[in-house]
Amino acid sequence: MMKINVITIFPDVMENILSMGMLGVASKKSLVTYNVVNLRDFAKDKHRTVDDEPYGGGGGMIMMVTPIVEAVEHIEPSQDSPVILLSPAGERFDQSLAHRYASCEELTFICGRYKGVDERVRKMVVTEEVSIGDFVLSGGELAAGACIEAIVRLKDEVLGNEDTRDTDSFEKDRDYILDCAYYTRPEEYRGHRVPEVLVSGNHKEIEKWRKMSSLRRTEKLRPDLLKRKS
Ligand code: ADE
Repeated sequence: MMKINVITIFPDVMENILSMGMLGVASKKSLVTYNVVNLRDFAKDKHRTVDDEPYGGGGGMIMMVTPIVEAVEHIEPSQDSPVILLSPAGERFDQSLAHRYASCEELTFICGRYKGVDERVRKMVVTEEVSIGDFVLSGGELAAGACIEAIVRLKDEVLGNEDTRDTDSFEKDRDYILDCAYYTRPEEYRGHRVPEVLVSGNHKEIEKWRKMSSLRRTEKLRPDLLKRKS
């Protein structure tokens, strides 16, 4: 069973995210186990402080090295398992990174807060740094939640209908581009009809249409994906 550790100052938020929808189902099915660790349990003072002012001055608070390192030591992540710091400076998270993490037995996420973490955290415990995009969040919790959801849904048996996953956007069966357009009932709504081919029952033609739809949407919405491929 995959083990996912999360170090955070908002354990309740994280527990909530991890009990939601598919993430909750995955743990109920014992496909994954979550271990949420409250960083404040590793603070050294009665106020449970985990941040301090930066040496050299300037604004903002920096997360202290001591509680983070000791929280990781408490978890004792298995050897060579990724210890991931969520930060805007990290490698961009994407579907291929989700696949790599989904093949790991154990993952440890450190949710940063405030202005950043003491640089020694990177040196002492972090093995990789991940960002979910070029924007700045106030903390890593939502970023960790997004990454964990993308990873856990790749585990076999997590999704009810597994073969829908193969045709997701960014997956091999979609040529690593966007998924196609979909329609469901009714067949006509206020004059807008479902493309005829989709109700034709001709599976070969439907598959051809879906490939075209996927390509057209990608050209329109994410042309960078096509450039990256060629
Ligand atoms: N923490 C703050 N901003 C972040 C981002 N863009 N990605 C991951 N973690 C973050």
